[in-house]
Parts: sequence; structure tokens; C-alpha cells
Amino acid sequence: MYHLECIQCHKKYSAKEVIYTCTCGGLLDVIYDYSQINITKNDLKGPLSVWKYRALLPISIDPVSLKEGGTPLYRVDRIAKSIGLKDVYVKHEGMNPTGSFKDRGMTVGVTKAIELGMKTVACASTGNTSASLAVYGARAGVPAVVLLPSGKVALGKLAQALMHGAKVLSIRGNFDDALKLVRDLCDREGFYLLNSVNPYRLEGQKTIAFEIADQLGWKAPDRLVLPVGNAGNITAIYKGFKELKNLGLIDSVPKMTGIQAQGASPVVTAIRNNSAAITPEGHPETIATAIRIGNPVNSIKALKAIRESGGTAETVTDEEIISAQQELAYLEGIGVEPASASSIAGLRKLVNLGVIDKDEIVACVTTGHLLKDSEHVLSVCPRPMEIDATIEAVRKAVFSK
Ligand code: F0G
Repeated sequence: MYHLECIQCHKKYSAKEVIYTCTCGGLLDVIYDYSQINITKNDLKGPLSVWKYRALLPISIDPVSLKEGGTPLYRVDRIAKSIGLKDVYVKHEGMNPTGSFKDRGMTVGVTKAIELGMKTVACASTGNTSASLAVYGARAGVPAVVLLPSGKVALGKLAQALMHGAKVLSIRGNFDDALKLVRDLCDREGFYLLNSVNPYRLEGQKTIAFEIADQLGWKAPDRLVLPVGNAGNITAIYKGFKELKNLGLIDSVPKMTGIQAQGASPVVTAIRNNSAAITPEGHPETIATAIRIGNPVNSIKALKAIRESGGTAETVTDEEIISAQQELAYLEGIGVEPASASSIAGLRKLVNLGVIDKDEIVACVTTGHLLKDSEHVLSVCPRPMEIDATIEAVRKAVFSK
């Protein structure tokens, strides 16, 4: 019913093979025999979840699951008004079991590891992938090994990886170094690699597109805005919308719009320069540690998604990210980590630049929960006032400016 195929040379691989990239070096996609898939809107009634769309997922055993997906799509009218748009939605992926969208990829990826008989799972991570892998590894009863850039992982994410029993290694280097090392480790030791270069991870993440269309009454938004780090999610969501269109469930695919932090923006540079490939950045830096990546492994797929869909890519500064995070929090009650807020910051910038039309229906993906990175919150919000335990002191403090 499906196979793996190189996006460059189109060489095909059986789904039984443990393989992450083509022998030519190209990225792989999971390709289905769509003529065998017959889904109507009627078949897709009922509550949202990743496994509701099982007919479009490459798994034949019982899933390793913690009830992932089914995240809310909020209308954010106050944010929309402040930016000057009419219809803005936020798909809050921070509401997944471990607090990020990675769970959609891990429920599929870890299940695939079991299906293939793999004994250990591994990844490099800026934090969220490692938290999710630790949790789904524990759920599956399979050991997990995670490689993290030393000193650059938010505490909430590290806490998850540690408590759920992963072997946590702090690498003296950045994420790109850690990814290179874990790929080598997996090749040598036969561990199953669960970074987004693994096409099965992306299959799980494409359900973000399915849910957004489902939640909008089987319609795609005009534009999808999201943060880009290793560039897996933008390609996964694009694939999801394209599949829905091919199956006749929606009429159009949104303009895929990727946002990167100014200090880590190789995809934006390639889009601006109309380059066929990115130029890796050796020293990526941003407060949004989740997307502190200089050499995104899925960049070729991401450039294609952006160009084919008529989308774009833009940078935002750390200051713009922080103010968007605060806006989401106090204007809408939506708590997200810094990387996630870059989608709203980018939306505002692109509207100001006149790139996004005021009539567009826009969905922004907020990829991770506020609680992931509480030390950042303490560095940008005022400290609580410490006062005496008397009613006079409380009343004085309540009315103080
Ligand atoms: N937002 C958050 C909160 C993330 O954790 C990530 C990636 C992204 C956005 C970017 O997604 O890589 O698919 O373009 N985090 C990875 C990790 C790299 O290791 O947790 P992407």
C-alpha cells in the first residue's frame, strides 16, 4: 500500500527496509497508492486524534499512543485586530501529551520502530524531540538515547527527557553537531533514528494539516504560518494538505510560510536569494532555542513546499518573538514557548510589509507549550512582589503601580 521514494532520483525502497535517506543522499518520502485509499468526509466524523486518520498513516500494528493530536484551533480575534487581519486561527500544538507537536511524529515513529523490530530509539534534539522520544520510548518499553546541545535546552524539556528515563547526553556542540553524531551512532549501533529526517516522523506530523482542515469544515486556510528549525514540520504539513487535495477532501493548499529567528535563518536566506539549496550557518543563535539550527536537514523539502505553494519565509528578531509570546499570553490566554511565538511575530511583520493580504484567512501553528521554557519567562516578566503576611501589606501591594 506504500513505499519509500527518494525526492531527488525517485529510487524506490520497500517499507520493510530500515533506511533514512537514499543512496544518492536525497531525502525520502512515504508514497501511498492513493487509488487504493477511499476516504470521504463521512468516514472522518468523530473526535480529532492522530489515529483518526489511520487510513493515511503507514502503520499496520496497534499504535504506541498517549492520545496525541486533537489539539484546539482557536480563533484569535484580539490578535487579528491588533495585526489588522480579520480571520486568524492558532493551532495550539502545545496541548499534546508532552506539550509539543513532536508527539504526532513520535506516536507514528516509535510504533514504526516496534513494527521494524528495533531495540533502541535515538535522536538529537533542541529539547522537544528528546522529551517526546523519552516519553514514547517509555510507553513502548524501548530504551531511548538523546543527544542535546549542552547548555541550550530549556529546563522543562530536559526534565521530561530525564524523568522518563532516556539516556541523556549533553554534547559540547550545537544541534547540528548532535544530529551528525546521532546519525553516525544509529548507523554503527543499529539504533532507530527518530529525527525528522526519518520520513515516518513526518507522516505523523502531517495530521496537523488534516486536523486544521477538519476543524475548518474541510477547508484549508489561505495561509499557514509556522516556525522553521530543522524544517520537518513545514514539509509534513504541506504533504498533509496536498494529500487532502489529491483525495478531493479540500479544494486548495495554503501558502506555506516559514518563520525563522534572525540568528538562525538559512531557509529564509535561500528563499530571498532564490537559491536551490541553503548555505548552512555555523553559529546559529536565538532566544528561541527550539529553532537554534544552522543546517536544517529537511531544507530541500521545505524550499519546495514554500515555492510550490506560493508561500514565503521571513525572519524575526528575538525582541519580536518575546513581544508576540507576551501578546498571545495576555491578549488571548494562549501560553507558548518562544519558538512558537515566532509564527505570530512573523505574521505581523509580513502584514506590515504588505506581503500578506488583509483578507487572507491565516492559521498559525504554535508548536510548544509555555511551561517548556519557564526560565525564559522569569527572565522577561517582572518578579513577584514579596511582602509581609498582613492584609495591609497585601492591599498596599495590590493597588501599587
Ligand atoms: N517549534 C518548536 C517548539 C520546536 O521544538 C521545533 C523543533 C520547531 C518549532 C521547528 O520544527 O524542526 O520541524 O522545523 N524542534 C526540534 C527538537 C529540532 O529537537 O525538538 P522543525
